[in-house]
Amino acid sequence: MSDLTRSANPKIIAVANQKGGVGKTTTTINLGAALAEKGQNVLIVDLDPQGNASTGLGIEPDDRIYTTYDLLLEDVDLREVILTTSTENLKLIPANVDLSSADIELMSNEKRSFLLHDTLRQPAMETFSFDYILIDCPPSLNLLTVNAMVAAHSILVPLQSEFFALEGLSQLMLTIRDVRQSANPDLRIEGVVLTMYDARNNLSQQVEADARANLADLVFQTVIPRNVRVSEAPSYALPVLAYDTQSKGAAAYRMLADELVAKNTKLAA
Ligand SMILES: Nc1ncnc2c1ncn2[C@@H]1O[C@H](COP(=O)(O)OP(=O)(O)O)[C@@H](O)[C@H]1O
Ligand SMILES: [Mg+2]
Repeated sequence: MSDLTRSANPKIIAVANQKGGVGKTTTTINLGAALAEKGQNVLIVDLDPQGNASTGLGIEPDDRIYTTYDLLLEDVDLREVILTTSTENLKLIPANVDLSSADIELMSNEKRSFLLHDTLRQPAMETFSFDYILIDCPPSLNLLTVNAMVAAHSILVPLQSEFFALEGLSQLMLTIRDVRQSANPDLRIEGVVLTMYDARNNLSQQVEADARANLADLVFQTVIPRNVRVSEAPSYALPVLAYDTQSKGAAAYRMLADELVAKNTKLAA
């Protein structure tokens, strides 16, 4: 892709859903890797104290010298915090358990909702010329997630294809509405992506039908199948695109990246 088609500023997307285990981290890693494979310059921000995105990308706890916590609360230089990964064009700001106290510590901070927003817009960021920044949110609607929503242009919501999937979406939508009213009026919903989809399972099909009926165009055409290679990849410290490049999971995340880029190119035109 030529530099001419690149926007000057990265598109910032928060991957959020307050439910745990719905595929946030998996989607952040593999959508990030798929975008990177397409030549996009990608930064993943690990905003979950569990640090699963960091582990999944092969950054061991001992290698997390500086983390998202230091970036938000200790004023550490951005260039010290951004790490390269084994995937070309894919960088990471790691997290660890330090971040679990950030939620409380942020409470007393006047700019508490804007810390990530300001961090990602500091001049030093330009030297990296990122095209996409994906924020892997914790499974909660806490102040960390609010920071992601204030920093982001849009929210991408992974929805696990199982019973009760749509439950909880209204709570998420209320939080998005609050953030729009208070801090980020332009916040959009990038889309909802069905994850762990099993085409042979009626329940998956029912969840998909419900989601498309209720959320219409917000639902990505691409669905991510349940695929054992996807779940194995993090223990090899690789995105599934590198772990098993021919797998159904890898193919699905490539399609999702295509869909995302097409959407965003259309918007820019
Ligand atoms: N498409 C998939 N196929 C199989 N397993 C998946 C898939 N997506 C996610 N998983 C597994 O489901 C679990 C939860 O996914 P994860 O991305 O960690 O969710 P979250 O970040 O929302 O808590 C993990 O064990 C992950 O490996
Ligand atoms: Mg996670």
